[in-house]
Amino acid sequence: MSVIALDGPAGSGKSTIAGMLAEKIGFLHADSGAIYRTITLASVQKLGSGADPEQFGAMFQKSDLDPDGLGIRVVVSDGRQSNCIGNVDVGREIRTPEVTARIRYIADSVNCRNTVNRLLREFADETGLVADGRDMGTIVFPDTPNKFFLEASVQVRAKRRYEEMLGQGNSSQSLAEIERDIARRDEEDRNRAVGALRKADDAILIDTSDLSREDVLSRILAHIQFRF
Ligand code: DC
Repeated sequence: MSVIALDGPAGSGKSTIAGMLAEKIGFLHADSGAIYRTITLASVQKLGSGADPEQFGAMFQKSDLDPDGLGIRVVVSDGRQSNCIGNVDVGREIRTPEVTARIRYIADSVNCRNTVNRLLREFADETGLVADGRDMGTIVFPDTPNKFFLEASVQVRAKRRYEEMLGQGNSSQSLAEIERDIARRDEEDRNRAVGALRKADDAILIDTSDLSREDVLSRILAHIQFRF
């Protein structure tokens, strides 16, 4: 089936665009970051939030991660992905700063990455997919002709996130704190030994700083090649 790989740094707008695009063309939107977040939350629940952060990664070093063991379920219905632990949809809880601060221990684990990648490829066997993340174009779906890399400055991304949070009535972080978090995550994501954030050589680069969501969407639509 056709896959559209959409990569970019935190706050580049890729999840929003991926959702809009998937809805428009009737594909499934697979949010790979949400899967890493769900595994992180399940690990926090298992180990406790006071655990030494290194323990999170160590949990996955020995063998292939068994998501069933952690009770993780990525459920697809009506073209939407829900991220569950047991029977509980944890869509909100995976976005807390507590989870975000620990993701790198999970994202650095090769076993964990292999498990997420396998799941994403299984989705792609079944349905057309808009997959967003950091390594969709480079590692997970290197053969798709549809690769896009979204970019924007740290300041623009922080401002967007800040306004989004305020819109949700959440003023727990200042603009400066968000900017610092995004810059730190960029550093971690770009320097990961496996699955680092990188534009695939054949990906189309879109700087979204001065573009509306609709503008970004129409640029992507103009380039997509379908293959069924
Ligand atoms: O897209 P996001 O901000 O929700 O992703 C959260 C983290 O998950 C990100 O900082 C690094 C990790 N991640 C990854 O390593 N590989 C991906 N394909 C997607 C996310």
